[in-house]
Amino acid sequence: AHFAQASFLISAPTLRECPDDEGLEIAFVGRSNAGKSSALNCLTSPRLARTSKTPGRTQLINFFTLDEQRRLVDLPGYGYAKVPEAMRREWGKHLGAYISERKCLIGMVMLMDARHPLTDFDCQLLEVAASRDLPVHVLLTKADKLKRGPAKNQLLAVRQELKEMQGDFSVQLFSSLKGEGCGEAWKKLDTWLAW
Ligand code: GTP
Ligand code: MG
Repeated sequence: AHFAQASFLISAPTLRECPDDEGLEIAFVGRSNAGKSSALNCLTSPRLARTSKTPGRTQLINFFTLDEQRRLVDLPGYGYAKVPEAMRREWGKHLGAYISERKCLIGMVMLMDARHPLTDFDCQLLEVAASRDLPVHVLLTKADKLKRGPAKNQLLAVRQELKEMQGDFSVQLFSSLKGEGCGEAWKKLDTWLAW
């Protein structure tokens, strides 16, 4: 029920325009088109985030409130090839700063397409999170596009990769389309949000 009273708070064009750095915040990060906004919609109601077939849909930092103290943040994706290199680098810096400096940030949900491997930039962000003891829960999304066997193998492979890195990392399969994996994700977020 905690996730059923979400409401839109504000869209910020840059991190400077973020709400005050207080309360508790969980950020959804990941490559462009990975399924961040869809996952956020799947985990909360009413559906609030805009999704799209075209990568680069989310260009603003969108803040949603769960209650007065708790927020979820839908961030623009990274790694979109059609975005000019300079802009990509600029956003990468912003994102790094947000993750390393935002005091109210208590955890990150990292979205990745279950059919793709972790990218170098994913790993960089994981390192930034780990450097300040921020837990990261990885959702291997679009799992509906894989058969059971390959999905399980990908889960084990990414779990192993995360284990070899330093940090409080966890991973699960997820499908926004089928609504699969919500229970496991809510459980994780609940432990962070300490209702
Ligand atoms: P940006 O905001 O552009 O960075 O993208 P995003 O990560 O927010 O992705 P978004 O949620 O907009 O989804 C991108 C596309 O993937 C859309 O066409 C979604 O319908 C599709 N999609 C997202 N999640 C799933 C899923 O679990 N299964 C399937 N089959 N498609 C999905
Ligand atoms: Mg989005």
